[in-house]
Amino acid sequence: MVQKGSGSAADLKQRIQSHDAVVGIVGLGYVGLPLVVEFSRVGMKTIGLDVDTDKVEKLNAGVSYIQDIPSSHIAPIVESGHFEATVDFDALSQVDVVFICVPTPITSSKEPDMTYVRLASEAVAARLHKGQLIILRSTTYPGTTEDVLLPELRKAADPHGWELGVDYFASFSPERVDPGNTTWTTANTPIVVGGVTPVCTDLAATVTEQIVANVHRVSSPRVAEMEKLLENIFRSVNIALVNELARLCDRMGGLSMWEVVDAAATKPFGFMPFYPGPGLGGHCIPIDPYYLSWLARRYDFETNFITLSARTNEEMPYYVVDAVIKAVAMQPVALRDASVLVLGAAFKRNVDDVRHSPAIR
Ligand SMILES: NC(=O)c1ccc[n+]([C@@H]2O[C@H](COP(=O)([O-])OP(=O)(O)OC[C@H]3O[C@@H](n4cnc5c(N)ncnc54)[C@H](O)[C@@H]3O)[C@@H](O)[C@H]2O)c1
Repeated sequence: MVQKGSGSAADLKQRIQSHDAVVGIVGLGYVGLPLVVEFSRVGMKTIGLDVDTDKVEKLNAGVSYIQDIPSSHIAPIVESGHFEATVDFDALSQVDVVFICVPTPITSSKEPDMTYVRLASEAVAARLHKGQLIILRSTTYPGTTEDVLLPELRKAADPHGWELGVDYFASFSPERVDPGNTTWTTANTPIVVGGVTPVCTDLAATVTEQIVANVHRVSSPRVAEMEKLLENIFRSVNIALVNELARLCDRMGGLSMWEVVDAAATKPFGFMPFYPGPGLGGHCIPIDPYYLSWLARRYDFETNFITLSARTNEEMPYYVVDAVIKAVAMQPVALRDASVLVLGAAFKRNVDDVRHSPAIR
């Protein structure tokens, strides 16, 4: 285990601010890779860790596989020596600040699948050293940082007598990357940070401030975990509302929900337009309501409203299929001979992420 400097919070903070601290990004996907680029660009040594050898080889050859990040952003940081990718987790022993950006899917019974967070936490904990800061970035249910990540870190730290918030540090800071959005980028989108102790919050905020203009500190990881779910469930509920109204407009005949939303959106306050769609895709909105409803059940609480929004949105592909069948029935072709062209399978325009797309289910 490599420990640079004294291993104290003050020393780590100073090395973060002088850009001497080494950043490790675990999980080099849509969330991890933009972080790599931003930290490398400000001149911090950045090590990317992934279990996918293909991704690691591409990155070390200066090639990107994420649409929003051109290879011209990867090649220079590899050539300058600011960035290297590896599948060897022992590289974490050189790292001062670790961001965990691994997937958080749901199981077939729609419960949180913590497999990736657990494996990444174990891998990080196995290389924990004094003065290291671990920041969980994956979207997850409130309590994950303290109940999943922290026990692993404690197992590694306790035999050395290392104290949390003094000798090592842990925080949660949710990602807000919006693939395809060229206005709101990693650098100008505010980020929320909640540490397990005030010192953990301060260190996580300090490292985030090196690449993000506006960092909002909250009192705990749970607040940060919950606010991220609120952001995504806010979208799920509002999308469900317009989806339900779109079906009503259809039933009423001759009423366009799009025209209705556009008209409502002329109100300059108290309304935000959401549009109906054929179903939800992507890695966030279809999943996150289930993270919270699962957690709520552990507290003997039913999230009726949130669960209903998820179900309402999940019914849309079936509704669209019925609408297509009705449209085909109006054509001079038998249903079994008809072919249907679907244009656009991703969760929004101009992105290539087709995870959870109802179009390919
Ligand atoms: N994609 C988005 O727009 C977005 C936005 C905000 C938050 N998030 C959240 O961020 C997290 C990551 O999402 P993503 O879209 O970047 O996923 P992704 O699938 O694009 O990337 C995850 C990466 O982690 C790697 N990985 C898996 N297990 C690993 C392990 N044990 N150790 C190291 N690497 C491992 C995978 O190989 C993959 O490269 C999720 O919790 C997601 O909900 C995603």
